[in-house]
Amino acid sequence: MRITCTVNGRLRVADDVWEGESLLNVLREHLDLPGSKNACVHGECGSCSVYLDGRLVSACLVLGAQTEGREVVMVEGLATHDALHPVQEAFIEAGAVQCGFCTPGLVVATHDLLSRGSQPTTMQIREALAGDICRCTGYAKIIDAVHLAAERMSSR
Ligand code: FES
Ligand code: FES
Repeated sequence: MRITCTVNGRLRVADDVWEGESLLNVLREHLDLPGSKNACVHGECGSCSVYLDGRLVSACLVLGAQTEGREVVMVEGLATHDALHPVQEAFIEAGAVQCGFCTPGLVVATHDLLSRGSQPTTMQIREALAGDICRCTGYAKIIDAVHLAAERMSSR
C-alpha cells in the first residue's frame, strides 16, 4: 500500500508498505529516517517516541497505515536548519548521551514535557520519563539535561 503523510514538516510518500508494518518501520526503512530507534519494538523502552498529530506515541505500536494524511514529528524535526533545539543542546551539554540509543526518544519525551510550559521537579521528570529506558547513563545526567533544557526554554 501507499502512505502519504507529513513527516518533520515535509509531505512524504511511502510505497510498498505492508498493511501490518509499524510506523517505526515506515520511517526507518521506507523513508530513510533513522532518528527513532528500534530497541524493543514492543512499546516497552521509549526509544521510538514520536509525535503523531501533536501527541506523543511509540512509533513501534502504531501502524504505518494509521498515519495516512496525518502529521508525524520525529527527533529530526525538532531542530531547525541551522540550530539544534534547546533540549537537544542540553542533552549534549549535560553529557546525557552515551551509546545514544535511548536519546531520540528521551529528547522527544522531554520536549513534550517542557512544551507544556513547566519547570518540572526532579520527581515530575522521573515520572514523565518513566517509560524511557536507558541502559548506560544511570539517568542522573538525563535529569540534569532536562533541568538545563527547562531553564533555557523558560528564559527564551
Ligand atoms: S522500540 Fe518502541 S517502545 Fe521500544
Ligand atoms: S545512552 Fe545508551 S541506552 Fe541510554
